[in-house]
Amino acid sequence: MVAPSFFYLCPQTNVLMASHDDLLKNIISHSKEYGFIFPSSEIYDGLSATYDYGQYGKELKNNIEEYWWKAMVRVHDNIVGIDSAIFMHPTVWKASGHVDAFNDPLIDNKDSKKRYRADVLIEEHIEKIRAKINKEIEKAAKRFGDAFNLNQFLTTNPRVIEYNRQIEEIEHRMKTALETGDLQALKQLILDLEIVDPVSGTRNWTDVRQFNLMFATELGSVSGEASIIYLRPETAQGTYVNFLNVQRSGRMKIPFGICQIGKAFRNEIIARQFIFRMREFEQMEMQFFVRPGEEMEWYEYWKNNRMKWHRNLGMGDARYRFHNHIKLAHYANAACDIEFEFPMGFKELEGIHSRTDFDLKAHEQYSGRKQQYFDPELNQSYIPYVVETAIGLDRMFMSVLSASYKEEKLEDGSERTVLSIPPQLAPVKVAVLPLVKKDGMPEKALEIFHQLKLEVNSQYDDKDAIGRRYRRQDAIGTPYCITVDNETLENNTVTIRERDSMKQERLDIHNIIQVVKEKVDIIPLLKKLM
Ligand code: GAP
Repeated sequence: MVAPSFFYLCPQTNVLMASHDDLLKNIISHSKEYGFIFPSSEIYDGLSATYDYGQYGKELKNNIEEYWWKAMVRVHDNIVGIDSAIFMHPTVWKASGHVDAFNDPLIDNKDSKKRYRADVLIEEHIEKIRAKINKEIEKAAKRFGDAFNLNQFLTTNPRVIEYNRQIEEIEHRMKTALETGDLQALKQLILDLEIVDPVSGTRNWTDVRQFNLMFATELGSVSGEASIIYLRPETAQGTYVNFLNVQRSGRMKIPFGICQIGKAFRNEIIARQFIFRMREFEQMEMQFFVRPGEEMEWYEYWKNNRMKWHRNLGMGDARYRFHNHIKLAHYANAACDIEFEFPMGFKELEGIHSRTDFDLKAHEQYSGRKQQYFDPELNQSYIPYVVETAIGLDRMFMSVLSASYKEEKLEDGSERTVLSIPPQLAPVKVAVLPLVKKDGMPEKALEIFHQLKLEVNSQYDDKDAIGRRYRRQDAIGTPYCITVDNETLENNTVTIRERDSMKQERLDIHNIIQVVKEKVDIIPLLKKLM
């Protein structure tokens, strides 16, 4: 049977999924209905691109943070964590380059009055050419069957060669324009590529302008230039200004790392696609301080380490890929993204940046205080180089939801929506359910629940038929359900139901805590990173 066009076959799971647009819509409404994410200030019609995390969302967020934090500070003996203030001395942002260079190139369409990032319009155009290459590959693979040789095809097919040449040329022109700040050249590229506004369908573009992404406010009651203060656009600077505090108080030896989890704020030109791009979001960042000249080795180390951290969750290796930056940020000498296949396609999930000594050197210049480390092995002082790993907690959250959300048709003809969240991250680990609300079953189930709830996040539920209760737990991603039935009262055994397979096994009551804890334990995941 041919699938209708509003469905597609997920290559990772072989499950028939809603189309990409529908998938995102379904995830958004599911997140609200089941207490993961609510639009902010909804009773006042919400605030654009701002969201609140609900009761299950907060638990999932906590679990992602725990997995990241422990993978950094427990797995690595030379990494510690801090929590710096959101407000910082305004000169920090002058020194870091954010006041002068933390800009996005902005372009408006005069007909639709919509605003876009010029570089994103061009990148989307490149993606369309890439999609054409993939179509050619698909067609050829079908035509040649087992004899298909991808490498040979890519290097000899005239259409593919031409598409790749176009991509290379566009990337080159965009890179040059961005690096030299030539906004006219950027606009010319958009015109030459005949890029149209997706809303109005016209090419009636304004000139490209630079737009600073930092939110500014005023400190205290005195207004004026001197009191301007910024909401931090990254946590990294709070780490840099504490580099020597941590190094000295912790007697840290290079190489060592400092990590942080905290809020960051950016006045994004277009904030959209749910929690993918927001103006207030949370970052999990780690700055790794190394000897000058050793940064590329560590850059490779952290690229691999971070990819392993993601794939470790078992959400499908093919959903991740590296993407090298075309335009390097003002502080970097190498940078790449780990991209994830979101419902909108492959997009940045995490950045890995070799930031050189740019930040510490700038803080030394602007503060007049030395930011140097005395290396006892080399018997010399230097400003360390930095390799950074930076991931958005909200984006990570969205990647987990995207990979986990499934609408399934079951063998008996019924349907269920299930979040197959990795058990270690699931908000609720286990639900305890009496089969029926009589015959002493609720009492026994409550007894088990009270023993479990301090060990792992647990729920007790005795409302509605058992099938409906299983569906409710599936919908919030609870990996295990314990059911108390007639047999429990006779021989002290319960059933344990696994969410994804829906298989049930019998288990002695005394083994419940140990069995559940083993299944949801984060330690085996961390061990794989050692
Ligand atoms: N300290 C380096 C830094 O901030 P970045 O690539 O700009 O680097 C790091 O940001 C990560 O923060 C991104 O990979 C993304 O996951 C997340 N992020 C950035 N802007 C975001 C936004 N507007 N909304 C949600 N997450 C965002």
